[in-house]
Amino acid sequence: MTFEGVDGSGKSTQAELLRDALVAEGRDVLLTREPGGTEVGERVRELVLDGPEMTPWAEAALFAAARAELVARVVRPALDRGADVIADRYVDSSLAYQGIARGVGVEHVLELNLHVVQGLMPDVTVLLLLDTAEAGRRVGAPDRLERAGADFHRRVDAAYRELAERFPERIVAIDASRPAAELSELIRERLRSRI
Ligand code: TMP
Repeated sequence: MTFEGVDGSGKSTQAELLRDALVAEGRDVLLTREPGGTEVGERVRELVLDGPEMTPWAEAALFAAARAELVARVVRPALDRGADVIADRYVDSSLAYQGIARGVGVEHVLELNLHVVQGLMPDVTVLLLLDTAEAGRRVGAPDRLERAGADFHRRVDAAYRELAERFPERIVAIDASRPAAELSELIRERLRSRI
């Protein structure tokens, strides 16, 4: 399963809380963060988040490269041994940020990513929705993408809402404005029949 949302939506905290809850139930859980989690992925992270300005396609290709490594080296082996995988960002991040907000085109980015991950899509995606001004206040030291401006963040937010309408059977959209512990309970409630 994956967690998605704009920067500052609280998805990393929620992914960790869910991981902890499942581990406490005795489940074997892997939590991944994108981009990252492999040597190539960490280098891509530095390049895309702290590097120079680049074209939207270059950005899409770099995130896809990091994802290819993560899926092949970390996610597939974990799934093969029967573990549950929780991903803090996955393909939907590229669809929202590069495909829609940066204008590469959602179909192009989806096609690229489906090749890269060899069709591996999440069973369920939790999309945390939060007013972009509030999300902006929650972000600490911003990276290159987080500095892209309020207008860009509004486009990302709108992009995620568009994806939720497009994939209603997979994406569970949840209002993320409540306190973390309460939100974590709500997420588990909404996922109970699905994980
Ligand atoms: P993070 O703050 O959740 O670690 O994500 C890093 C940044 O990278 C965030 O601003 C979203 C962006 N991003 C994309 O633009 N496309 C992607 O495919 C991924 C995984 C992240």
